[in-house]
Amino acid sequence: MSIVIITGGSRGLGASIATQCARRGIGVILTYNSNRQAAENVVSTIEADGGKATALELDVSNSATFPAFRDAVGDALSKTWNAQTFDFLVNNAGHGLYNPIATVTEEEFDGLFRVHLKGPFFLTQALLPLIADGGHIVNVTSATSRVATSGVAPYASFKGGLEVLTRYMAKEFGERRIRANSIAPGAIRTELGGGLNEEFETLLAGQTALGRVGEPDDVGCVVASLLSDDKRWINAQNIEIAGGYII
Ligand SMILES: NC(=O)c1ccc[n+]([C@@H]2O[C@H](COP(=O)([O-])OP(=O)(O)OC[C@H]3O[C@@H](n4cnc5c(N)ncnc54)[C@H](OP(=O)(O)O)[C@@H]3O)[C@@H](O)[C@H]2O)c1
Repeated sequence: MSIVIITGGSRGLGASIATQCARRGIGVILTYNSNRQAAENVVSTIEADGGKATALELDVSNSATFPAFRDAVGDALSKTWNAQTFDFLVNNAGHGLYNPIATVTEEEFDGLFRVHLKGPFFLTQALLPLIADGGHIVNVTSATSRVATSGVAPYASFKGGLEVLTRYMAKEFGERRIRANSIAPGAIRTELGGGLNEEFETLLAGQTALGRVGEPDDVGCVVASLLSDDKRWINAQNIEIAGGYII
């Protein structure tokens, strides 16, 4: 059985990615930051559906905790799957912030940097020895890196950095046949940054060719399918999942 680790799997896109992966027979290790109950609910849903999952605590903004997290992953792999390695890593966890450049504080900037760029970099580094040869890393970026959207400059800049980092991962990990791709969602109905209000949703739907905002499963299905062997030759790409947002 293939095994995936999904950071931020307790809610939103991560919860959908976890459920969609489990439906395709992939074992799931999902992480939560503060919302343990939500994570346990996702595990219960997967188990009720006949899948296998476990939840671990992880703060991706705190790289000092990554060695201990790697140990916890090792324990979960041997206890739940009798395995020493896992196959897929989805760097998904994150938070949003709306604040124009003129008023962003250094603390807000550093917080976004730690979660969206430094965290995926050093978490991947820490977990690399446990990723099986032939595995796959998926980094969650954002359509805001392509379309400048007022109020999200640091967030979008770090997502742009993560997109570049993805190509470097593909380059350096290729010798172990590990693929690396990023996916860039458009506006999806989750709790990110406090969620979408009606006015914003109408605006975004009007800017989208398919005439609506996305739902978490619009993204979860793509990620789960990207992990399959059918997609084995897709590597070092940034794939926008946005229904045709501002084209
Ligand atoms: N929704 C969109 O429109 C959209 C568009 C483009 C990109 N994205 C990206 O998609 C990813 C998921 O976002 P979402 O929309 O699903 O947001 P969400 O509904 O707010 O869920 C965020 C998830 O990330 C976890 N998380 C937050 N801060 C964390 C930290 N410091 N360490 C570890 N985990 C943390 C949360 O854990 P807890 O539940 O424990 O708090 C939760 O599982 C993010 O990287 C986001 O930037 C989203």
